[in-house]
Amino acid sequence: MVTIKSKREIELMRESCKIVRLAQEAIEKAIRPGISTYELDKIAEDVILSNGAIPSCKNYPSGVKGVPAFPSAVCISVNDEVIHGIPSKHTIIKDGDIVSTDLCAYKNGFHGDATRTHFVGNVSKTARKLLEVTEGSFFEGIKYAKKGYRIGDISHAIGEYVRKNGFYVVEEFQGHGIGRDMHEDPGIPNYGKAGKGLRLEPGMTLAIEPMVNEGTKEIEILDDGWTIVTADGSLAAHYENTILITENEPEVLTM
Ligand code: MF3
Ligand code: CO
Repeated sequence: MVTIKSKREIELMRESCKIVRLAQEAIEKAIRPGISTYELDKIAEDVILSNGAIPSCKNYPSGVKGVPAFPSAVCISVNDEVIHGIPSKHTIIKDGDIVSTDLCAYKNGFHGDATRTHFVGNVSKTARKLLEVTEGSFFEGIKYAKKGYRIGDISHAIGEYVRKNGFYVVEEFQGHGIGRDMHEDPGIPNYGKAGKGLRLEPGMTLAIEPMVNEGTKEIEILDDGWTIVTADGSLAAHYENTILITENEPEVLTM
């Protein structure tokens, strides 16, 4: 179901989204060669909990028989990992890595959701371009996140921007409505046809999240049942914000 948030509900969304932003800022400050993804997860979880929120990803069911719920507050995906990497004491960040951190906070009945991809130390030129294009595609997409446009306009803008820049969007995962549930309707693919899909209205809150691979759109899933990697081992980046559709320009709630 697509939900339109009231003024009061939007204020509550703002608060959850602010906590997401604070947790992302704490990770950005802490990330350096030598730190484990486990430690980064704990840093973000502390920020979420100390602000009276709950990390929505922790204990989120996989939906797949035999695969346990997601064990951590943050999905941390390094280099060829696209999404849903599981933090570990054994995963130590090193110079030259690119690291995506995807996290949600739940407070007062509402979720906020955002992802950042971080550079650590001296990263390759390709990695820099990949991140630039991934972030850029989000901003291309939200040019159409306005009253009167359709979901397909956002999807198309993201997909075409990525394609023209020589990279590949992942097709198996997508953005989503967000509010009382972490994943609400509509789904927001990162490719598609302009002029198609749901028409946007003020009060919709959407998590828009391009996942972009360097060498192929194909992905694989690791034996842990969660971690998604590029099929060719090339780099991947992910960027996400929760936004609000208004009467005019969209508001990015997690920035
Ligand atoms: N935050 C993710 C999203 O962008 C969802 C993570 S899956 C979870 O939709 F299992 F970790 F919660
Ligand atoms: Co999301």
